[in-house]
Amino acid sequence: MNKRSAAITAVGGYVPETKLTNFDLEKMVDTNDEWIRTRTGIEERRILKEPGKASSDMAVPAIQEILKKKNLAPTDIDCIICATVTPDMVFPATANIIADKIGASNAWGFDMSAACSGFLYALTTGTMLIESGRYQNVIVVGVDKMSAIIDYTDRATCIIFGDGAGAVLLQPTEEAEGVKDSILRSDGSGRQYLHMKAGGSLKPASVETVLAKEHYAYQEGQAVFKFAVKGMADVSAELLERNQLTADDIAWLVPHQANLRIIDATANRMGLPKEKVMINIQKYGNTTAATLPLCLWDWEKQLKKGDNIVLAAFGGGFTWGATWVKWAYDSE
Ligand code: UT7
Repeated sequence: MNKRSAAITAVGGYVPETKLTNFDLEKMVDTNDEWIRTRTGIEERRILKEPGKASSDMAVPAIQEILKKKNLAPTDIDCIICATVTPDMVFPATANIIADKIGASNAWGFDMSAACSGFLYALTTGTMLIESGRYQNVIVVGVDKMSAIIDYTDRATCIIFGDGAGAVLLQPTEEAEGVKDSILRSDGSGRQYLHMKAGGSLKPASVETVLAKEHYAYQEGQAVFKFAVKGMADVSAELLERNQLTADDIAWLVPHQANLRIIDATANRMGLPKEKVMINIQKYGNTTAATLPLCLWDWEKQLKKGDNIVLAAFGGGFTWGATWVKWAYDSE
């Protein structure tokens, strides 16, 4: 018997139906399918178009899928941790709104703002809540409606991002499977390369900030790219080393889906062949906090109990990290 730890026992996901293809973008900005595919690996992304719909409206179906799979009532949920940089509102937390919408009246919850690493930060936090012994059912959801903060006249950012949500259920286990280890890092000096200029307490919204387009995501792509390649690869290699794992021990790498070239560089550094790398960037683009759980959602049926998987991410902040999970179940 091992000590009480946390296992992922179900996965849910949601992507909006509307597709925005590279060919659609060709008509909106000076770009082309060939450039986007070769520089990023993206072919299309999903956009939540319906007026009045927000991040919580994507998180809700993802979580409801989990409840259905596990035959749980919404009132069984103890806590909801929502990783997002596109909350429904500045406050209250989107986690509260989600809880209300699904009827999780026994749950407390909070949002976690760590951009593309948000899901890993939230997964580690949720794991510790389970390990504390006080909670049985913790939902960790990564969701972003990036289309709400993207300037569709800026070809440097609008080609990358998409909308979506992915969620996992964490439950206690005393088996060897579960969330085994995590290395998380942050460096706030990187904020200059990827941020939203206005709308916070530093620069509250005003007519001027709107006219200056300061409520959109601002990114210096090349600088972020350089840090991302090094950050994701370094931390993944460190995680393997400190757990005496080799590439042969790893069944799957689950990398943040920001750019296929960053994913390839991380896999190469870990010595992993392409067949062991989850890649769905071509159909969803970069959904920020949702990329990792959306990969788990897409691959769930292929995952086997005991599989060692490494999740790795890098994003705004800068924030980055890697988490080792021993998969806890075979899908029916
Ligand atoms: O998930 C959060 C973390 N974010 C990331 O990890 C993103 C990391 N960065 C990237 O993925 C890449 O930097 C981008 C995909 C954003 C850009 O790719 P890049 O290879 O770094 O392009 P670049 O910015 O160096 O631009 C190369 C050229 C430039 O033209 P010149 O100056 O060489 O003539 C750009 O103007 O490509 C041009 N360009 C484009 N051309 C066609 C930039 N964007 C586009 C575009 N279509 N959409």
